[in-house]
Amino acid sequence: MALWGGRFAEATQNSVRDFTESISYDKRLYKYDIMGSKAHASMLAESGIIPASSAKAIIEELDKIEKRIDEGNFTFTADLEDIHMHIESELIAKLGDDGARVHTARSRNDQVNLDIRLYLRDETKNIAERIRLLQKALVEKAEEHKETIMPGFTHLQHAQPVLFAHHLLAYAEMFERDIGRLMDARKRLNVLTLGSGAIAGATLPINRESVQKKLDFPAISRNSMDAVASRDFTCEVLSALAIFAMNISRLSEDMILWMSQEFSFVMLPDAYCTGSSLMPQKKNPDIAEISRGKTGRIYGSLMSILTICKGLPLTYNRDLQEDKEGLFDAIDTVNGILSVFPPMIAGLTANKENMLNAASDPGLLATDLAEKLVKKGVPFRTAHHRVGALVRFAGEKNKKLNELSTEEMAGVIPEFDESMKDVFQSPAAAIEGRDIYGATGYKQVAAQLAFWVKHLQEDLF
Ligand code: ARG
Repeated sequence: MALWGGRFAEATQNSVRDFTESISYDKRLYKYDIMGSKAHASMLAESGIIPASSAKAIIEELDKIEKRIDEGNFTFTADLEDIHMHIESELIAKLGDDGARVHTARSRNDQVNLDIRLYLRDETKNIAERIRLLQKALVEKAEEHKETIMPGFTHLQHAQPVLFAHHLLAYAEMFERDIGRLMDARKRLNVLTLGSGAIAGATLPINRESVQKKLDFPAISRNSMDAVASRDFTCEVLSALAIFAMNISRLSEDMILWMSQEFSFVMLPDAYCTGSSLMPQKKNPDIAEISRGKTGRIYGSLMSILTICKGLPLTYNRDLQEDKEGLFDAIDTVNGILSVFPPMIAGLTANKENMLNAASDPGLLATDLAEKLVKKGVPFRTAHHRVGALVRFAGEKNKKLNELSTEEMAGVIPEFDESMKDVFQSPAAAIEGRDIYGATGYKQVAAQLAFWVKHLQEDLF
């Protein structure tokens, strides 16, 4: 008979038991469930609600149960719906009446909410710290390439020369915001909801502040109905993970393109690529491809929780049990990505020659010429038009911009003078010239690198 079976005359159908169980996946919360029960039991005794001897017995037995689950010596069965029922049943089986006191002034509605919050409090911290390691790999790679020039792209067309370091550090910035979102979500979920009961609190004089202290929560939920009804904290974490995955997917796409024969900008290490079962010559960027693909399932988990919560009347509804699988899957997926990405980036090698060649088309410096004209007092739109005409003229003559003579240039651009010619000579000079805060100039990128080296040494928490 289930622990809630008192009012039932008939046993549950097996098909119903199998359909409604969550133990197959919520057992992963056991440590948090036990942590919560220990704090709750000791508070019940402190408050004179249960005998101190009962609390002592409960806490000792909970430690034993935890150890048994750790060691794989605990039997899980669909007959006991979820992790909460498993642990309470075991306490009752071992301790009789003492065990039957643990669920005083508590519901699984506030208990499960507490468990997920404790779990996410750990996971958000862990993932944020692991994203830091990815940033470290990017920053170290950027250090190696603070003078490597490549074409920067817009519309996947050559745009302007940039430093490879600048491109890598763009991702460090994106991941910094991902960490920020996780830490921000963590602040909001770090609230004690236990003590809300099923919906309305309890008539017994429980001491929520005591549980708050024991479980180290900075805050206590103000409204018991909101506490048991809401999963917006899960939505926030999944949304932060979905955005992180989106950023990973973009980095993956860059890697995949750059490793293609058409680009040949980078090579990923052998240990982080796989081969083809048919074509002996193949070396594929599968980590990047799979990560790009896994982004879809993380988005799926976000869509799932948003859809589960929409339209639910207050307060707890059993639909909310569906909050977990997608969340666990997203956390596992992100952890998987974070196991392989940092070493893959660390092992990346760049083909500097190909990158420089690709950046050496003088067409990429057309904007620089327009800006030289601006320095001479030509309005930018006019300068843009003049340089555009020069590009067309060079195309008609089948010449590159740096192959035009001074006379040809001055023929198209009346304001042209000899001193402007060197603009097309070297992408390095174009990089050097971009000495604006946040830009790709050597000095600026060195300053960005210095920022990152220092920033990554600071503690996150
Ligand atoms: N397994 C349930 C869940 O994950 C626990 C809460 C069940 N509450 C209830 N009243 N049936 O949401």
